[in-house]
Amino acid sequence: MCGIVGYVGEGSALNMVIEGLRRLEYRGYDSAGVAVLVDGKLETDKRAGKLANLEASLQEQPLPHSTTGIGHTRWATHGAPNDRNAHPHLDCTRSVAVIHNGIIENFAELRADLEERGHQLSSETDTEAVAHLLEEEVASLGDGLDLAEAMRRVCRQLEGAFTLVAVHVDAPDVVVGARRNSPLVVGRGDGENFLASDVAAFIAHTREAVELGQDQVVELRRDGVTVTTFDGAPAATHGYHVDWDASAAEKGGYDYFMLKEIAEQPQAVADTMLGRVGRDGRLHLDEMRLSDDELREVDKIIIVACGTAFHAGLVAKYAIEHWTRIPCEVELSSEFRYRDPVLTTRTLVVAISQSGETMDTLMALRHAREQGSRVLAICNTNGSTIPRESDAVLYTHAGPEVAVASTKGYLTQIVACFLVGLYLAQVRGNKYGDEIKSVVDDLRKMPDKVAAVLERMEPVRALARELRDCTSVLFLGRHVGYPTALEGALKLKELAYMHAEGFAGGELKHGPIALIEEGVPVIAVVPSSLGRGSLHDKVVSNIQEIRARGARTIVIAEEGDEGVVPYADHLVRVPSSPTLLQPLVTTIPLQVFAAEMAAARGHDVDQPRNLAKSVTVE
Ligand code: AGP
Repeated sequence: MCGIVGYVGEGSALNMVIEGLRRLEYRGYDSAGVAVLVDGKLETDKRAGKLANLEASLQEQPLPHSTTGIGHTRWATHGAPNDRNAHPHLDCTRSVAVIHNGIIENFAELRADLEERGHQLSSETDTEAVAHLLEEEVASLGDGLDLAEAMRRVCRQLEGAFTLVAVHVDAPDVVVGARRNSPLVVGRGDGENFLASDVAAFIAHTREAVELGQDQVVELRRDGVTVTTFDGAPAATHGYHVDWDASAAEKGGYDYFMLKEIAEQPQAVADTMLGRVGRDGRLHLDEMRLSDDELREVDKIIIVACGTAFHAGLVAKYAIEHWTRIPCEVELSSEFRYRDPVLTTRTLVVAISQSGETMDTLMALRHAREQGSRVLAICNTNGSTIPRESDAVLYTHAGPEVAVASTKGYLTQIVACFLVGLYLAQVRGNKYGDEIKSVVDDLRKMPDKVAAVLERMEPVRALARELRDCTSVLFLGRHVGYPTALEGALKLKELAYMHAEGFAGGELKHGPIALIEEGVPVIAVVPSSLGRGSLHDKVVSNIQEIRARGARTIVIAEEGDEGVVPYADHLVRVPSSPTLLQPLVTTIPLQVFAAEMAAARGHDVDQPRNLAKSVTVE
């Protein structure tokens, strides 16, 4: 989820682009770069690290004045965050500069073909291939450069999710953009026009925006904007007036980053699968750089993580053991190395961390490696310490998660763990290809199911506001509903500063039921009625038991599950899903409930008291 800005007009392109990137820096900050057109030449500068590094470089070596330019802040997906991989990327002739947000699934074969045709590509990114493809298409168009047509021809060769913006030395007053499954918006000014990942980049100059649609190409000139489909047909556009202030714009119009990040979960889940599952259902995880032989040797898996990441590991355990038949333990990082765990060279330790900087988890993986075990990191932050110190990494593609309370980070950790489990089953052969494909097909449906749940959250928000003065909320679930209950309780603790406890439904009678009295709110996560054995009926019995003792039952259950209706004071429906994938939808109401409860209590939803986004001390 990178920051993208393009400008053409009468002002200083560099100033406009840098100012826009500042507004977008929350979207990613592994590196930043700019390209401007000056007298038939491309002038560029790009630096790893925060935008300030690029600004310092530009201070030292200013670029000449220009009225046409593009800029980018990067959230790395392919290739380490360094100067070489920073955007913009250029072609062989240094005539084309291109910046990109998203993932080009077929970039490996495109790159191989380009190199076979003699192109020299120097970065590890998927983006650089686009610069060379544009070079070829411009050349094939001959005289009378039409950069927009060249872009359309390139886009028709690409698979995946992408927002692309490009300039060419022979088109001094033109910026061209394209989008598929990734945002791009036009800012229409007076004698100047903007392109950006979101309106925050340009609302200081114009509030007249045009949202680009799927598979569209836009040509920006200072006096006009032309939008077509990838096939070149004129495209209908939707113009609107932006009435957000700059701060709200960074949050996409939401009051808090957390709410925006909850809303981004369908895309984050989809992006984490992009490029990793083939149409035939086979998993492609070569990026992990763990050989098939190494994976076949594994005889035990230990997942180490903290907080929400730990809950993701608990969910993953059910799936990994079911699919691979490899024993899988899940440990709190802070406990792991102090219990003298049994580790061998055949133990695969999986370190889950959104930030990649959690000291407890870093120390756990160091201990595992000292004992000779291989470590695989599941991480959302490219180039952070935990993946750097691991043997292998599978990145989640959630994009920057700004709110302290993890939401899209959590769902994508679960998805990444599912992909690892399925890949292990594929490599070790203990699942037939069609069985794996069936699960992959179910996973592909989850982004739409997550989106469907998000559409029906108003009753959950209203309930949170109604319960804002309660002193405790209990959560119960069974199977993967148990870690879901734990995660719901954690969200409420860290956001509403309220006592909350999650427990396994089967444990109710071993103690927690003593907590039930008149009016105690209990949120119950009900398994699929098609799931394992009588799990569903056992949870319904739990709900009956607590309701008989006065609990206020808030039931999360699948559409069509009528068995729960008589015992639910409040019923939250989620789309029916396979048992193991259910947490991807049942967690959403718990996130929304906690965020709304925090807001109702007047708390800072993004920065809860006493907490940090990344706990870099033990
Ligand atoms: C989750 O909402 C919390 N912010 C916290 O539990 C977090 O999951 C934990 O600190 C682990 O962080 P990490 O994923 O960056 O390692």
